[in-house]
Amino acid sequence: MEAELLGPPEELKNKDVLEIGAGAAQCSRWLAAQGARPVALDLSHRQLQHALRIGGSFPLVCADAGALPFADGSFDLACSAYGALPFVADPVLVLREVRRVLRPGGRFVFSVTHPIRWAFPDEPGPEGLSVSASYFDRTPYVEQDEQGRAVYVEHHRTIGDRIRDIVAADLRLVDLVEPEWPAWNSAEWGGWSPLRGNLIPGTAIFVCVRD
Ligand SMILES: C[S@@+](CC[C@H](N)C(=O)[O-])C[C@H]1O[C@@H](n2cnc3c(N)ncnc32)[C@H](O)[C@@H]1O
Repeated sequence: MEAELLGPPEELKNKDVLEIGAGAAQCSRWLAAQGARPVALDLSHRQLQHALRIGGSFPLVCADAGALPFADGSFDLACSAYGALPFVADPVLVLREVRRVLRPGGRFVFSVTHPIRWAFPDEPGPEGLSVSASYFDRTPYVEQDEQGRAVYVEHHRTIGDRIRDIVAADLRLVDLVEPEWPAWNSAEWGGWSPLRGNLIPGTAIFVCVRD
């Protein structure tokens, strides 16, 4: 939002914006406050219930990002904050769908946990600074329930993989932003901390255009 990667806030007014993997729809809420017309989409009904509870006057759509229930050229912009793409085995399918529903000249801005983080333990302290896995190992991270069913699956793609996916979906990459840890932020949560944030990037943001 602060980086204005979707464009200056004053130009968001009356824009149709699709938020993918919206979760509790924080981005859509912010977009609506700028005068945009967001649609928040998520696969998880439970996440959308959180969104509903928090509130906001924009549509919530429960659907798979790989099969978007919208006509071609329905949106001016699309965005995703860590949503959908890390959790699908075929990200090109999602990117192609996003391209299809964007109008010519439309922008898709999405963030993922920075791929370099895959090589480090997800710890905020010094133990999170030593490489413990190969950056090139694409084996997904899977959590299972007692019956052995996968309940959480996250797929690793290198930076190069992500760029090739964007090209394969016929989107044009115009920027790759690696935000630096802000000096004011002294918080630690999960694997995030100033110690690690000052040394290795935590997030990669891809800015793409549909020509
Ligand atoms: C890490 S959360 C991010 C949520 C939110 N964007 C945020 O920043 O808090 C990832 C979200 O992607 C959603 N998701 C995963 N796979 C999806 C898919 N195939 N289609 C749509 N949403 C999906 C999940 O349900 C979850 O809400």
